[in-house]
Amino acid sequence: MDSQHKCVGILAIDVYFPPTCVQQEALEAHDGASKGKYTIGLGQDCMAFCTELEDVISMSLTVVNSLLEKYGIDPRQIGRLEVGSETVIDKSKSIKTWLMQIFEECGNTDIEGVDSTNACYGGTAALFNCVNWVESSSWDGRYGLVVCTDSAVYAEGPARPTGGAAAIAMLIGPNAPIAFESKFRGTHMAHAYDFYKPNLASEYPVVDGKLSQTCYLMALDSCYQCFCSKFEKLEGKQFAISDADYFVFHSPYNKLVQKSFARLYFNDFLRNASSVEKDAREKLEPFSTLSGDESYQSRYLEKASQLVAKHLYDAKVQPSTLLPKQVGNMYTASLYAAFTSLIHNKHGTLGGQRVVMFSYGSGLSATMFSVRFHDGQHPFSLSNIASVLNVSGKLESRHIFSPEKFVENLKLMEHRYGAKDFVTSADRKLLSPGTFYLTKVDSMYRRYYEKNIVDGAVCVMESGSCGNSLLLNGH
Ligand code: ACO
Repeated sequence: MDSQHKCVGILAIDVYFPPTCVQQEALEAHDGASKGKYTIGLGQDCMAFCTELEDVISMSLTVVNSLLEKYGIDPRQIGRLEVGSETVIDKSKSIKTWLMQIFEECGNTDIEGVDSTNACYGGTAALFNCVNWVESSSWDGRYGLVVCTDSAVYAEGPARPTGGAAAIAMLIGPNAPIAFESKFRGTHMAHAYDFYKPNLASEYPVVDGKLSQTCYLMALDSCYQCFCSKFEKLEGKQFAISDADYFVFHSPYNKLVQKSFARLYFNDFLRNASSVEKDAREKLEPFSTLSGDESYQSRYLEKASQLVAKHLYDAKVQPSTLLPKQVGNMYTASLYAAFTSLIHNKHGTLGGQRVVMFSYGSGLSATMFSVRFHDGQHPFSLSNIASVLNVSGKLESRHIFSPEKFVENLKLMEHRYGAKDFVTSADRKLLSPGTFYLTKVDSMYRRYYEKNIVDGAVCVMESGSCGNSLLLNGH
């Protein structure tokens, strides 16, 4: 049971995103934005969204059930379950308690943990709670399970193309193929009104888009400086971008990720000019005397640093950008969906490599931390994780909706937000087998879910039913 020095981290990971999506190129034209604004300007390809059949609870049920099934994990082996989400369905009842249906059925109610909320950061808080638990004296030898789940939707306007939806599940334990280097964490927390949800009658946030970009970059600088100084203290040498093989970012939209990596490069230049190439040094030199505030506003610095860091961006960041570009901002799941993209693209060569991760949640809270890949034992090997993720298969089986249908769907969801006494009627044929979906909300606001098994067969998910145990043909 001694988990110390035993590579505590992520043993297995699964991702789910709705099969319904809209293409950014079509949305751009529909919204009257100039050609290329969403695809090149924001760097996004496609955006997933929930229809009335899906929400953060159904997506969590789907991804947890899928992970347990595919890795052959008995629900009784889970000792802690933590959820990160900023999508409010109930102001009191945690999403974790809905997920307990899976575990109750198997007689396991001895599971610690509830939900963590602070914008896109809640998943990281949940992950740290689980990792810390396995590393602590209260660990009882069972697995931790982390779920990050969100549906990101915005009111009509410039923020709307930066939505998305997904859920991620991560199994936590010792001897992990993805091990935390817990000592190298750098955190920055502060008070800001960059993105928040004060209107409890609406799912849409209040956003100060420009401020949120600056807050993100300021938090990134602060976390990087903190991360570097901890690394230097413990390792006795200066940290630079060359000390990590990959950098994975919370990804509201790809352009911000490009700017963020360039900002790290500029940080390296400021801390130790000789750590960057000569040509880059010359290009960045004119900006070395800018104050912090001036540097966030300088378009010239932004462009110059992106240009000199481009080759490193292609090698160290680009492999993690697939799902964020295809699915959109998944809030708490965004960073971890980017991470699964890296595993999907590079699983054969990751052994021994270090990844630096940056988590940001508006309001604001942010942490930079690092993980190292190891050769795991089946089923927890990187190649099996990549095959279970089935990223290509999931992307290929999506259904593209027109922007008009997407907007129509958002209107229905606005109407349904916080509503009671309705049944869902959308066609569940779009959902693949194994997907949970909402069937109704009754007059007491109680929500009912079923599992899509095969055509004409469903599994009812109410109290007292679990997994495939309640299969009602033709229900
Ligand atoms: N072709 C190519 N590029 C274009 C075009 C075009 N036709 N038109 C505009 N662009 C570029 C702009 O130059 C800009 O790029 P740059 O930043 O490199 O200069 C980019 O497209 C975006 O255009 P803007 O006019 O600057 O942005 P806009 O006012 O439309 O809003 C924003 C963008 C602020 C990101 C908005 O979508 C938003 O508020 N999103 C939600 C907030 C958010 O995601 N914040 C990030 C951190 S917080 C979080 O995770 C929620």
